[in-house]
Amino acid sequence: MELADIRKDYRLKVLDEQQVDSNPMNQFESWLNEAFEAKVNEPTAMVLATATKLGIPSTRVVLLKAFSENGFGFFTNYESRKGEEIAENQHVALLFHWPELERQVRIEGVAQRTSDAVSDEYFNSRPFESRLSAVISAQSKVVPDRAYLEKLWTSQQDETATQPLTRPAFWGGFLIDPVKIEFWQGRSNRLHDRLLFSRKESAWTLARLAP
Ligand SMILES: Cc1cc2nc3c(=O)[nH]c(=O)nc-3n(C[C@H](O)[C@H](O)[C@H](O)COP(=O)(O)O)c2cc1C
Repeated sequence: MELADIRKDYRLKVLDEQQVDSNPMNQFESWLNEAFEAKVNEPTAMVLATATKLGIPSTRVVLLKAFSENGFGFFTNYESRKGEEIAENQHVALLFHWPELERQVRIEGVAQRTSDAVSDEYFNSRPFESRLSAVISAQSKVVPDRAYLEKLWTSQQDETATQPLTRPAFWGGFLIDPVKIEFWQGRSNRLHDRLLFSRKESAWTLARLAP
């Protein structure tokens, strides 16, 4: 297979200034709904980019668990690599790619921890087994082997029979307050549509970018 010969033309949809919502949060919501309707695989999966204070970047996939006019929320371990990078540099980026709709959305913004109440509410809504894994996993730290993790999980399970499983302080949510949101719609002949919203205080301005 020659990678250089793989070519797909994008011709499903169009995005223009007339049809886009003047509020990018509403526009995002309608694209997310369309992604659900189109049965996109994992429509809430987003790539989260963080960087150290020196600007060394790293990425990983997380799941969007909250969305409102306040921003984009996900949950994780605050002591993980991403948690530590956000602690030293709050500037992050998110990327949604919905290939079935030939779309991507790029978001840049500032991450802040959610309140304990918000983190508790989401933690308590998770299945018991997921909560157990969150409790025993020192996410991103080196462990000796898989057996070590499974032993920890089982012993925590035994302990939990006598004590309720509450959210550990090292686990919770981040909310990203967006300052840039770009909607990308694939078009024919690589002449794609790119509409970029930029925020100053509470006002959004719209610009078209060359593909
Ligand atoms: C589809 C998918 C969804 C994921 N969702 C989450 C999530 O919501 N929160 C999370 O902490 N990790 C999630 N992960 C795991 C992360 O990609 C990553 O492996 C983990 O958070 C450790 O990242 P870090 O070492 O950079 O902190 C998900 C992975 C995939 C592939």
